Amino acid sequence: MSDRVLQLRNTRLVDTLYRRTRDLLYGRGWGAFHRDRIYRSLVLDLLDTFAFTSFVETGTYRGYSSELVAVRHPRLPVFTVEVVESTYRRSARALKRYRNVTALLGTSNEAVRRLIAEGKVGEMPLYYLDAHWQSYWPLRDELRAISAAGGKAVIVIDDFEVPGEPQFGFDLDGGGDPTHGEKCNLDYIRPALSSPNVYRAIFPRYAAADAFASGGGPLRGHVVLFQNMSEEFERYLDRPLPRSYYFRHAAVVA
Ligand SMILES: C[S@@+](CC[C@H](N)C(=O)[O-])C[C@H]1O[C@@H](n2cnc3c(N)ncnc32)[C@H](O)[C@@H]1O
Repeated sequence: MSDRVLQLRNTRLVDTLYRRTRDLLYGRGWGAFHRDRIYRSLVLDLLDTFAFTSFVETGTYRGYSSELVAVRHPRLPVFTVEVVESTYRRSARALKRYRNVTALLGTSNEAVRRLIAEGKVGEMPLYYLDAHWQSYWPLRDELRAISAAGGKAVIVIDDFEVPGEPQFGFDLDGGGDPTHGEKCNLDYIRPALSSPNVYRAIFPRYAAADAFASGGGPLRGHVVLFQNMSEEFERYLDRPLPRSYYFRHAAVVA
């Protein structure tokens, strides 16, 4: 999108009209999880399977993913944090209709730490870590906070390299340069995951034709980490959706 078009798209009037039109056509939450129907079904399946005490998204952007979760689980506390003030304002405006959503302004590593310290995430949070695009990547610091808290959690990390599945795109941490840098993958996050926590991981394995009704579209990689939930992990793998579209990763993460 050119800068001029993006500026127009981001005006209050156009943003509101665009979202309302799309809501009418496709239902609320249409823009979540890259519009990839397998990815979004996986997150909804996790939410249906486990009694999560909160959903925590880092990197709100337009708020689409938190919106989907808030619509489907209106009693689940949903926290979403965005560092860019104009982006935060726009998404907070769109999300204020959902009483279970708290939109936060600030850097996500600090927000995650604070939410944990204040007990707001509860006993078993579902994290969706998706804060990229600025020069500082908070991902490892977010994971350090989650790991230090211990306990049970499921952590979905977006834009992650999927071993052996090159059809999935992933991001590079290049201090603001999206073309060079460290790959967002298991090696990148491993130093942030501390013992005695035990981690299990699943990765996606499917084609663009499975994910998009149009038959195509850019697939984005992701990983689902189960922290201290080994038994739940084994049971979860028997469910139809992960059995069909996800695979277990053999390497112990920590
Ligand atoms: C890929 S977008 C998020 C998309 C969103 N999660 C969704 O599913 O629709 C990344 C967002 O993370 C934000 N971001 C980058 N660094 C951040 C930080 N340290 N704290 C919070 N948000 C951050 C960016 O400004 C951007 O809006």
